[in-house]
Amino acid sequence: MMRIFVTLVLVLAGCGGKQTVPSAGEKPDEATGVVAFGTVRAVLQHPRCQNCHPAGDAPLQGNEGRVHAMNVQRGPTGHGMVGAECTTCHGPANPPSNYGLHVPPGNIKGWHMPKPEEKLVFVGVAPRALCEQIKDPARNGGMDMAALRTHLEDPLVKWGWNPGYGREPVSTPYPEFIAAWETWAAAGAPCPN
Ligand code: HEC
Ligand code: HEC
Repeated sequence: MMRIFVTLVLVLAGCGGKQTVPSAGEKPDEATGVVAFGTVRAVLQHPRCQNCHPAGDAPLQGNEGRVHAMNVQRGPTGHGMVGAECTTCHGPANPPSNYGLHVPPGNIKGWHMPKPEEKLVFVGVAPRALCEQIKDPARNGGMDMAALRTHLEDPLVKWGWNPGYGREPVSTPYPEFIAAWETWAAAGAPCPN
């Protein structure tokens, strides 16, 4: 009886303020989580991200996702073929803008794509399938939700918002992406139908 009374008081107290956004520690409902995943999905399938996450063995280029020039291939570890490693052309940072357009972007982590046994395909995957794949440790490189969240700080991910001169960054601002991810995760990482 006492518990019901306390709950009622808390519910009434909560009605005073604006309660559209779940407060810290409160679990967002499934529908809210699914909507948040929509924002996450749009980022994963933005050209800056999915060009390194193709179904085939060549990375993609540009907003239209054309197959990478010069017959560049994933290779045995995702770092390219012997003699044509990604880092032959892609340095440790984006070249300065005075190098002009169409220069290979760079990254401190060493430019590479996922390995052939674990391709982490984002291109052309339907929302529900993408959602299930992303959170499945058997298919995402053994990451649980905490490890995935940490991966969002990875330099190759962050590069999407600083992709070098002449290239469009991911359209959803980074803080908005992280907020959507956290809402999705807090809701129990529900997938759309
Ligand atoms: C230069 C290539 C490259 C780019 C660009 C890139 N990734 Fe990745 N991504 C990788 C590689 C390689 C892995 C595998 C883990 C590793 O080696 O870091 C990976 C793994 C991941 C994973 C964890 C595995 C999974 O499927 O759940 C996520 C999530 C991810 N990337 C998201 C992104 C997002 C979001 C962007 C764009 C903002 C992005 N990636 C851009 C290469 C890239
Ligand atoms: C022979 C040089 C060379 C090699 C080797 C090379 N690249 Fe590139 N890459 C380029 C150039 C040049 C560009 C820029 C093209 C442009 O902007 O039109 C580029 C652009 C890209 C982009 C496009 C970024 C975007 O979103 O538009 C991705 C992704 C990429 N490379 C991945 C790779 C991966 C992964 C490897 C290794 C498996 C690799 N590249 C090997 C020269 C190379």
